[in-house]
Amino acid sequence: MAVHRSLRDGALVLELDNPPVNALSPDVLVDLVAAIDAGEADSAVRAFVLAGRNGIFSGGADIRWFGKAPPPGAPLLPDVIARIEASPKPFVAAIEGTAFGGGLEIALACDRRIASPRAKVALPEINLGLLPGAGGTQRLPRAAGNAAALRIILSGAPVKAAEAQQLGIVDAVESGDLLAAALASATSGPAGRTRLSERAVAAEPEAFAQARAQLAPIDKGGLAAHRCADAIEAATTLPFEAGLQRERELFMELLASEQSKSRIHAFFAQREAAKVPDVPADTPVAAVRTVCVVGAGTMGTGIAMALANGGLTVHVVEAAEDALARGRALIEKNYAASARKGRFTEAAVAERLSRIHFGTDLAVAAHADLVIEAVFEELDIKREVFAKLEAICRPDAILASNTSTLDIDAIAAGSSRAGDIVGLHFFSPANVMKLLEIVRGTHTSAHAIATSLALAKTIAKIAVVARTCDGFIANRMLAPYGRETMYLVEEGAAPQDVDRVMERFGFPMGPFRMYDLAGLDVGWRIRKRRLAEGRFATLREPEIGDRLCEIGRFGQKTGAGIYRYDENRTPLPDPQVEALIVAESARLGITRRPVSDEEILNRCILALVNEGAKELEDGTAIRPGDIDIAWLYGFGFPVYRGGPMHYADTLGLARVRDELNALAERHGEHWRPAPLIEQLAARGGRFAELQAYEAKAPAWT
Ligand code: 3HC
Ligand code: NAI
Repeated sequence: MAVHRSLRDGALVLELDNPPVNALSPDVLVDLVAAIDAGEADSAVRAFVLAGRNGIFSGGADIRWFGKAPPPGAPLLPDVIARIEASPKPFVAAIEGTAFGGGLEIALACDRRIASPRAKVALPEINLGLLPGAGGTQRLPRAAGNAAALRIILSGAPVKAAEAQQLGIVDAVESGDLLAAALASATSGPAGRTRLSERAVAAEPEAFAQARAQLAPIDKGGLAAHRCADAIEAATTLPFEAGLQRERELFMELLASEQSKSRIHAFFAQREAAKVPDVPADTPVAAVRTVCVVGAGTMGTGIAMALANGGLTVHVVEAAEDALARGRALIEKNYAASARKGRFTEAAVAERLSRIHFGTDLAVAAHADLVIEAVFEELDIKREVFAKLEAICRPDAILASNTSTLDIDAIAAGSSRAGDIVGLHFFSPANVMKLLEIVRGTHTSAHAIATSLALAKTIAKIAVVARTCDGFIANRMLAPYGRETMYLVEEGAAPQDVDRVMERFGFPMGPFRMYDLAGLDVGWRIRKRRLAEGRFATLREPEIGDRLCEIGRFGQKTGAGIYRYDENRTPLPDPQVEALIVAESARLGITRRPVSDEEILNRCILALVNEGAKELEDGTAIRPGDIDIAWLYGFGFPVYRGGPMHYADTLGLARVRDELNALAERHGEHWRPAPLIEQLAARGGRFAELQAYEAKAPAWT
């Protein structure tokens, strides 16, 4: 039974019960209509109360059913809402927890809404590239006015109960017995219907013009936003029924769009990424409350803030007092800036700072449930730190490294507790960037991975699990992408052309601006180290970045890199760099030529896709969706394109294969399609079909 019925005090209480989020799947809707029919026919029923079990009202329409035909006889959500609207008996919604999307739309069709103080309401469809398609765009402006409706629907952000009451979205907030309050309202409130659909709404064309001016362009991910604005405006220009009709048409347009399919893919990929085949859901998870962060540089300070923001107690340990003081000052400065910008209140900042403790004695790690090492990227230094930690830490503590390039197995080599050692690769700035790569070594235990996944949730990070290798999932793909951007410039493109094309594609920042921001010297040092180790024997490393570093142009930190920067940090092409690039082409014997935008895009994206496929082959990534998540949240791949692997699916893998082969003919064998791409393309397949680890070599070679 997906909807429980009980007659109480003359009201039929209908409780949605479809765990975990009471999504409005076809069986819920069938039960709901049957219950309404029964209640209407029963003279003992004077009113209805709609509520949810599982601590939630409803997370909305069942996204898994989008694009599929409902089972025969099952109504659509708008039909059910029309049924509620048409009933002669009043409805009261009792909102416990979350009422999102279709959940809120059902509640808005009720006569009154009563919420618990912890309740949140939202119309988050825009995050899925959709609009509220079951009356939300027509009823919300009638409840809360155009400005609030625009803000809520265009942001998709949750509104807390108290604000929802102020805005007129809910009628009352009940801190006592919510169901009793809803019952009282249903049975002793006005007997007739009070429908939002009958309310007038003002036409405010200037509010819509203003809102539209802020939106992303339609072809840069803004399609849903524009259609949301169109649908809300229809509420102000059309009669209610015609407005609903318009909303439906616009919803169907969005449902068929690539932007929406990509965002829905990202929604599920994000949740799927937290499921690791050989880490069962019942794997014991350690409660992490106290974390020791070793190293208070760029990353250690950011990690400490991310942990404190998640409510944890943090001990930051540095090698020396001066470095510790610098780290502490950095954290205080960052928090002060957050307070100035209104991200946190002064009190919240003080509370967070009070949970971060600073010291130079590693002995404090004895109190930690988890240690995160963020010292210099040198294997010997890291191994020394881990050896000390083994002697100090509790036997049940998890020991993590934030290394970005080193092998977790090498860090764990010789350790008596390799099972407890895991990579926790945060991205810079760690208190801001959403991605957390959890890196498993050969011996990392399921317990350590499960605990890391739980930690990610606590500190609101989006986790993907990678196997240890050079660069893990995200940075390993950055290497061929980065090389390609440089090859393009050596051949004749200007850095600003490459940036323009990739920004047009949807990256918030083109690669050259990104290098300047991250610091060209970082790659320079890594390249020097790798060359010294004799790596990269097969593929030529571009040297433009090295030439720039040799003349002190490290990027924004030195005021100049690929670009020079004015006082507003606007990147400006620099003749000195142009000359340096031309000289580099000449040194390599390359005759410069015009490079088209299409070629730039193709080579940058296909370099990613091919490497991603290789990661699936060797098991670095569990599934294509994990790679997508790593690029969406680690490097700003546009979410409305779903991530590199999803995007490749939209291109079609036969086309991807053919273009890779064409590139191989022109630019060298390293472009040959990964065998996985050949295999899938040959059978007309897609990355999306692959089950976890299905692509891993032994399964298909
Ligand atoms: N449909 C189907 N499945 C859903 C779902 C939905 N609307 N919302 C959540 N789920 C699933 C998740 O995929 C996940 O499944 P899994 O356990 O198999 O991985 C499970 O429910 C739990 O989800 P979360 O891990 O996200 O749980 P949280 O407790 O962290 O968050 C939530 C709960 C706030 C409801 C969050 O899941 C959420 O924001 N969901 C999406 C809400 C949404 O976008 N609703 C609008 C739907 S579109 C709509 O209503 C169209 C209408 O206008 C016509
Ligand atoms: P950093 O140089 O800014 O900070 C390292 C800090 O560690 C310094 O403050 C140093 O004093 C301290 N330290 C060195 N040895 C120590 C010891 N034995 N005990 C305690 N403290 C010690 O370096 P950054 O950038 O913070 O990098 C740290 C780690 O994070 C590296 O492994 C790096 O590869 C990784 N990383 C860096 C990213 C970045 O963008 N900077 C991104 C992701 C990971």
